[in-house]
Amino acid sequence: MDEKNQKNQTIELIKNRRTIRAYNPKPLSQDEIDTIIHGAMRAPTAGNLMMYSIIQVSDQKLKDRLVKTCDNQPLIAKAPLVLLFLADMQRWYDFFRVSNVKEKCNKIGREFQTPQESDLLLACCDALIAAQNSVITAEALDIGSCYIGDIMENYEIHREMFNLPKWVFPITLLCYGRPKGDKNKIPLLTRFPKKYIVFTNQYSRLSVNDFNDMLENDPRKIVVKEAENMGQQLYLGKLGAEFTVEMRRSVKVALKQWLRED
Ligand SMILES: Cc1cc2nc3c(=O)[nH]c(=O)nc-3n(C[C@H](O)[C@H](O)[C@H](O)COP(=O)(O)O)c2cc1C
Repeated sequence: MDEKNQKNQTIELIKNRRTIRAYNPKPLSQDEIDTIIHGAMRAPTAGNLMMYSIIQVSDQKLKDRLVKTCDNQPLIAKAPLVLLFLADMQRWYDFFRVSNVKEKCNKIGREFQTPQESDLLLACCDALIAAQNSVITAEALDIGSCYIGDIMENYEIHREMFNLPKWVFPITLLCYGRPKGDKNKIPLLTRFPKKYIVFTNQYSRLSVNDFNDMLENDPRKIVVKEAENMGQQLYLGKLGAEFTVEMRRSVKVALKQWLRED
């Protein structure tokens, strides 16, 4: 197979990926798991610092608990592979401590700074880019996956469950497994028209007409009973829903912990 053809295969794989939430219970082989993790670790990483860690959650009791702490999602308990992606600055600051970096800074008159908001965002970038690389790697092995964003909820519980120190934040959870049944029967969800997502040179805010056009072919049905239009549905069902409110509370607690001076 020539190089051009291989590139096309990658593009086809990306174009046809869809979230898989029902898994064949057959365990993944160690070789498959290693390949998925290796794919994650080959992702670009700021300064080649790998400001993330990955916990493979294999204990069924932990998976069962995650079902509840991540907004009641039973797929987590049934996924043959569950990986927790952590934004991690703890590793580097532990290394800085044993390397006497603070003392060195004092000696040469440089301020020694602990991780701030920007470090958290950069570490989240690293962790999420690694996570998505693992998704594409899994896809290449015919293994489907589903992100669980609700891992950002219940910070205090997750910190205790996984023994997370101060400068480690659980940014995403990923479930993987072979699709149960024919994956091509799961609809490929549409995206909004490119002109509302991709701009040239300048940001562009949308008008009422733009919104109407953007959502015109959206196959989503209004399912929130109080909602009279799509805006109300998306707020009441997603960005103002109970799970989002909990996520906002939880992340505020995590940020406070991250920035605590002690
Ligand atoms: C950051 C993030 C968090 C997500 N969290 C969840 C989740 O908690 N549960 C779930 O079933 N799907 C979750 N998803 C999957 C999305 O619902 C899915 O990607 C979206 O509906 C588009 O569908 P597609 O991936 O099949 O194209 C998440 C995806 C992302 C990127």
